[in-house]
Amino acid sequence: MIISAPTDYRQAAKRRLPPFLFHYADGGSYAERTLRRNVEDLADIGLRQRVLKDMSSLSLETELFGEKLSMPVALAPVGLTGMYAKRGEVQAARAATKKGIPFTLSTVSVCPIAEVAGAVERPIWFQLYVLKDRGFMKHVLERAKEAGVKTLVFTVDMPVPGARYRDAHSGMSGKHGPMRRVLQAAMHPLWAWDVGLNGRPHDLGNVSDYRGQPTELEDYIAWLGDNFDPAISWKDLEWIREFWDGPMIIKGILDPEDARDAVRFGADGIVVSNHGGRQLDGVPSTARALPAIADAVKGDLKILADSGVRNGLDVVRMIAMGADTALIGRAFIYALATSGESGVSHLLELFEKEMRVAMTLTGARSIADLTQDSLVSEAW
Ligand SMILES: Cc1cc2nc3c(=O)[nH]c(=O)nc-3n(C[C@H](O)[C@H](O)[C@H](O)COP(=O)(O)O)c2cc1C
Repeated sequence: MIISAPTDYRQAAKRRLPPFLFHYADGGSYAERTLRRNVEDLADIGLRQRVLKDMSSLSLETELFGEKLSMPVALAPVGLTGMYAKRGEVQAARAATKKGIPFTLSTVSVCPIAEVAGAVERPIWFQLYVLKDRGFMKHVLERAKEAGVKTLVFTVDMPVPGARYRDAHSGMSGKHGPMRRVLQAAMHPLWAWDVGLNGRPHDLGNVSDYRGQPTELEDYIAWLGDNFDPAISWKDLEWIREFWDGPMIIKGILDPEDARDAVRFGADGIVVSNHGGRQLDGVPSTARALPAIADAVKGDLKILADSGVRNGLDVVRMIAMGADTALIGRAFIYALATSGESGVSHLLELFEKEMRVAMTLTGARSIADLTQDSLVSEAW
């Protein structure tokens, strides 16, 4: 299949992946309304065309926590990335590093921290969940420090997991899941060879490292379910603030009051996010939530935003609405599943090209020039 647009990767990934994996990434929670709105509301943000402004020199570069980024984009933490391509976290981290942007490793990655950090020159970011087992949290934070991680992304919008009904339908979870997954893998030989056979071990690398025994995919959902902690509050984050010297970003903020609390807590950044519509269905899209949050805390900490970013124009929209950097989740997973590192590299090239066109035609020579003024206020 010919890939010419970033969104072409979704269809290509659908062909290549066993359905349980495609739907695990593609799906959201409950009726998936927030998932759809993330994409639609963002695409509905109108850009303000400006012309004849000599746009011959243009820079997408930006700086975040003392790091140079070639463009205001980072790869979001995505659990089980290593099931989408052989040692998928390593491949995606390589593509991000070559492009000059950060890669964020999920707590529940297939490849452990040391494997990914050891494969790239640029320090990776690490994402941590708040878990009941504080021993595990300390253990991974120590591993992250040893591996040279500086930036910690602390995800707080999962005190309980949201219901993802697609997973039960697709065989990712539920009765007969294991048998259905084996059958689906057998019918997708490219994936079965690349990842099923050659991408082993398929376990949660960081968890196995802590437990000293393999934590198979089979245990994944159960482990997550047992370990998420509904008792979490800002107080619980204090020891991490003390333990962690580097920048700390709180991921999963959707309300200006929580954003102000993050400032009071002393966070270096927030990710305005609804977890890609995978947690509470019915919460606003980030496109709707971001402007009020930016009004409340812009300048007090760095604002990152995700959920619904599918192309370079969406990044420009997020930045113009007040984000300093956008994270991309599913978009890079589809590219990784289709053609590994080269797929992610190609996707990032496409993002950059699209951003350049959007900046040229909105009269923004630098990322700082992208503001509310780059948008049209009325729906288009
Ligand atoms: C398959 C999948 C797994 C994810 N795993 C994690 C995770 O382990 N930790 C986390 O903080 N967010 C996780 N997320 C959420 C992403 O970091 C990000 O917020 C989301 O994908 C953004 O929405 P988008 O996919 O529409 O770009 C996951 C998302 C997907 C699609």
